[in-house]
Amino acid sequence: MNEPKQAHTVSRSATLQGHPADGLGETGALFCYAPIPILIEDWSGIKRWTDALKAWGVVNLEDYLKKNPRVIEELRALHSIVDANEATLALFEADSKEMFFAWSRKLLPASRISNFQVLQAMFDGRSSCQGERMLSTLTGKKVPIVWKCSLPRSDDEYRRLHFYAFDVTEQKQNNDRLETLRSQMARTARASMVGQLVASITHEIGQPLGAIRTTLDAAIRWLDRSEPEIEEAVTAFQYASRWTDDMSAICQRLRNFLSGAPVEAITLDCADVINSAMLLIASEANANAIKLNTEIEPGIRVHADRVQLQQVLINLLINGIHAIIASGRDHDRSTLSVRVTQHDETQTLFEVTDTGHGIEESQRDIIFHPFATTKSNGMGMGLPISKSLVEAHGGEIWIATTGEEGTRFCFTLPCPTCNLPDNRGTPKRVA
Ligand SMILES: Nc1ncnc2c1ncn2[C@@H]1O[C@H](COP(=O)(O)OP(=O)(O)O)[C@@H](O)[C@H]1O
Ligand SMILES: [Mg+2]
Repeated sequence: MNEPKQAHTVSRSATLQGHPADGLGETGALFCYAPIPILIEDWSGIKRWTDALKAWGVVNLEDYLKKNPRVIEELRALHSIVDANEATLALFEADSKEMFFAWSRKLLPASRISNFQVLQAMFDGRSSCQGERMLSTLTGKKVPIVWKCSLPRSDDEYRRLHFYAFDVTEQKQNNDRLETLRSQMARTARASMVGQLVASITHEIGQPLGAIRTTLDAAIRWLDRSEPEIEEAVTAFQYASRWTDDMSAICQRLRNFLSGAPVEAITLDCADVINSAMLLIASEANANAIKLNTEIEPGIRVHADRVQLQQVLINLLINGIHAIIASGRDHDRSTLSVRVTQHDETQTLFEVTDTGHGIEESQRDIIFHPFATTKSNGMGMGLPISKSLVEAHGGEIWIATTGEEGTRFCFTLPCPTCNLPDNRGTPKRVA
């Protein structure tokens, strides 16, 4: 088996022809004035070369070209441009065919990728091929194109391979614009994610931070007496210390939550968590003469994360306080209550009821969305955070009743006996 002749040893067969429309009748005119750039190239020499390569036993063209990197350049000696139509001249910004042909080698330098695509298709015996490449016009303008070519059966027809070019500048520009938009959107989404995280943390630590301040002030007062009340002060310090731990736990859990970490639920005594939440909001309730009321089924427990359950309760309780204050009604009747009952065999039901102004019909669907607030200094994060936390536990949260007399929010969490997540019951809604 002989190695195929090197490209430079095969003679060029193509010739530059006159105007294609000259004396060629309708077909020539169609080619000449077709609105699509068409380039006729002679690939017959290259066809003979690929046939010889196959006969020589090469089965993997790509490997062969990798081992012989100069071949693609050398094959140019076996190739020539035969003809170009008017649209091709316009594409390259050439005033005449003579000008185009004078510059054709520079205008259409060997393109490793495009040439390989044609070679591979010929090698595989395919009937067509296509690819993309970037062209440079005579004025240096860059034009991205998609080219297509039908591969003939007979070797002779390879003398006039028709390459069709489609200018895809507009599509590329649209794609670029789309790409820019996409990355802008991704940036905005990241920024809004960061914004939500910051807003969530700021919102959630606001309450314990305020409570710590009040407690420390109280502790100072206990100590700053002629006869200091050490025991009272120590209790206050203990609360402050516990709430400080809660604050760092809130930040940690929010981070875990946003990164998709699973909830770390344990069995909790509901009375314990509710009393702790009530204590945190007590000073704000007292300052506004709001009575606090709890109704907890004896011994009732829940399977949840203590800090997260406390967060949900505080968010609902604080909203209740705000609604009561904003209603401007007689404070003697202002009450904020928490009730806990066994909802069904798998869920524990929490109800937070206030005597505030109620929620307007138009607001009911949107208040669980981030940043939805009707308060001038609101953040609109309390309810969306609460919803996410409850749902991450497999529970549900909803507005049970609302009106001029006040609002009752309900949420469910799994009780300890139920086997999460497979045995999670669907909570019943109580309206
Ligand atoms: N108990 C309630 N009574 C009346 N309106 C409420 C109550 N809870 C929530 N809302 C409404 O839902 C909105 C969103 O609440 P939330 O997400 O906690 O954000 P924020 O309290 O910062 O406004 C509030 O601005 C308010 O309009
Ligand atoms: Mg709120």
